[in-house]
Amino acid sequence: MKKVMKLGLGVIFFSFLMGCSGDKGEVKSTTLKVAFNQSEAHPQYKALKEFGEKLDKETNGQYKLEISPNSLLGDQRASAELVQNGVIQMAVVGNPVVESFNKDFAVIGLPYIYDSIDHQKSVFLSGKLDDLFKSVGKNGFQVVGAYTAGARSVYTNKPIEKPEDLRGYKIRVMQSDTMKKMVDLMGGVGTPMAQGEVYTAIQQGVLEGGENNEVTYADLKHYEVSKYFSYTNHLMVPDLIIINDKIYTGMTKENKEIFDKLIRESVESEFEAWNENVLASKKLAEENGAKFIDISIEQFQENVKPLQEDVVNTSDVTKKIYQDIRDLTK
Ligand code: GCU
Repeated sequence: MKKVMKLGLGVIFFSFLMGCSGDKGEVKSTTLKVAFNQSEAHPQYKALKEFGEKLDKETNGQYKLEISPNSLLGDQRASAELVQNGVIQMAVVGNPVVESFNKDFAVIGLPYIYDSIDHQKSVFLSGKLDDLFKSVGKNGFQVVGAYTAGARSVYTNKPIEKPEDLRGYKIRVMQSDTMKKMVDLMGGVGTPMAQGEVYTAIQQGVLEGGENNEVTYADLKHYEVSKYFSYTNHLMVPDLIIINDKIYTGMTKENKEIFDKLIRESVESEFEAWNENVLASKKLAEENGAKFIDISIEQFQENVKPLQEDVVNTSDVTKKIYQDIRDLTK
């Protein structure tokens, strides 16, 4: 009897092994399609590519990454839906996209919450955001990490030095109430829109300008339609790496460990590459006529305080995260 059982277990184990392999004993490989809304020159693209190569190698070909840049799979909102439904497996989306699933996320994208890129890096790698990230799992996707997208500033057809300079100016923001309120408080008219439509909207006078980091400003050639980039430095919005929940929770323990470790490495290397990319982007924009203007930001900081208070007091979670983030400045 024992012998028969042993034999039975052996057969099951053997069939399991065969199930993991292809007909010719090849490893079963899963392709993770990733939606990305910027170009191949963007530091996040490079970080993702490197992540994919290492993932392929360290899982012995069980996972391969296929990145679709330039919004080929739609804007960030559309790609988040594709990830939810499992049509694609991963995407990089701005924090406001995930904020629409759980408004507690607004706290990590508040104006003036990070003091510097190094501060933001220590927050993203601290583990303090893990519970927040897991909280969206019931929506069909998980947040597995956050890339930096630097600091954002306002750009338009004239220098902006104080809130009054923005009066009546329609400035494009990412699609979220927090972002709209922010620009309204800064003196302008926050106008939510997908990133891909901004260039034409400014060109046609539907908008007076936008707000973004230097890399995207240059990558999307927005300097052609908005020459003055004024350093309001008002925002450091995280870009979140999301993955389909079933794919992620379905990984073996070993593969999940590799995946998590490599995401962390990818975040670290993207942070390292960021500043260098900012310099190159500024140079390119300047060569094409852009003007970068240093301004004093106190009045803008003062103006957005009511928004900071509102968002911090959303819930116990947001209060705690805000405190954790500020504690990491010390
Ligand atoms: C940045 C950010 C993107 C975001 C974009 C935007 O480029 O990295 O994730 O989509 O800003 O303003 O929409």
